Amino acid sequence: MSERAILFLPGDGIGPEVMEEVRRVIGWFGKRQLAIRVEEDFVGGAAIDRFGVPLTEETLAKAKAIGTVMFGAVGGPEYDSLPFEKKPERGLLRLRKELGLFANLRPAMVFPALADASTLKRELVEGLDIVILRELTGGVYFGEPRGIETLPDGQKRAVDTQVYTTGEIERIARVAFELARKRKNKVTSVEKANVMYTGVLWREVVQAVHDREFPDVALEHMYADNCAMQLVRYPKQFDVIVTDNLFGDLLSDCAAMLTGSLGMLPSASLGTPGADGRRPALYEPVHGSAPDIAGKGIANPLACVLSFAMLLRYSFDLPAEADRLEKAVARVLEEGYRTPDIMQPGCTRVSTAEMGTRLLAALDALV
Ligand code: IPM
Ligand code: MG
Repeated sequence: MSERAILFLPGDGIGPEVMEEVRRVIGWFGKRQLAIRVEEDFVGGAAIDRFGVPLTEETLAKAKAIGTVMFGAVGGPEYDSLPFEKKPERGLLRLRKELGLFANLRPAMVFPALADASTLKRELVEGLDIVILRELTGGVYFGEPRGIETLPDGQKRAVDTQVYTTGEIERIARVAFELARKRKNKVTSVEKANVMYTGVLWREVVQAVHDREFPDVALEHMYADNCAMQLVRYPKQFDVIVTDNLFGDLLSDCAAMLTGSLGMLPSASLGTPGADGRRPALYEPVHGSAPDIAGKGIANPLACVLSFAMLLRYSFDLPAEADRLEKAVARVLEEGYRTPDIMQPGCTRVSTAEMGTRLLAALDALV
């Protein structure tokens, strides 16, 4: 059996704080015959402070060699004035692109104990379990040409390009249908085919992949604006939502909030398996660096922990361990432990580290 290794990139803001709790979880598994080697490096603002760039070539090479990355968060107000190409976020975007992480899984599930934490009524979100599958290496995030130019009359003109090829749409569509087969067997493909050519192609290609390879899966097409509305109107109608990079960015934040807290949502970004069969992958909480609460010890580590559970499942093929960790998360919530972001009346308010301690206790109790 080859060695299990992870590159830790804690990054900025609350990133290092929530990653610390994952480290403790890894330690817990380490004491139970599951050895994982952890290397650590800098990304985002943390890398800018040390090396002047948000991702060094060495760090990128390390990420490629190890292949499995646990990512905290990047960004903060102190970097707002940096030129676009030097911003902390570029580190993350470059990792996604260079590792070929085209498939971004963003599950939005409501833990029973948190059904009242949602801003939507309990009956709308109770038992919710949907996945936003976001295309992550194409579209307007990377399309050329892009930039800002000055026109002869002194005005400026900014351009971004939304672009997709058949191949890019086919491979994300396949991930969507395969995922749906393991779930409730339904895919909603989302674009703006009424306005955008990329939307027209997206719809055509998804339909063709369906008809050719996955006729057993239910498929519907939906415009992105309608999807945003449907997500808050009746989210349980969805199973797998597959969409492009930009719509996926927007809709996954919306879906995240259905669960009551952005602090609860994990994500996995997967690439194509290489010749050795290993699939490059990066796991990160959806919440971001949250500079307003950084350093206070109050961040919710559960999204990061759940991202690590996804890592156990998708990169290390350890479904039993992933299940145990997810059950431990459900258990601490049932026991009433809450970081401030999910605090409810009658519950016990805990710090980031206390939540980690409770989680390890729950893992012990589940053995
Ligand atoms: C996300 C974030 C990123 C994105 C930012 C930090 C570049 O919003 O992962 O959803 O826009 O993809
Ligand atoms: Mg986003």
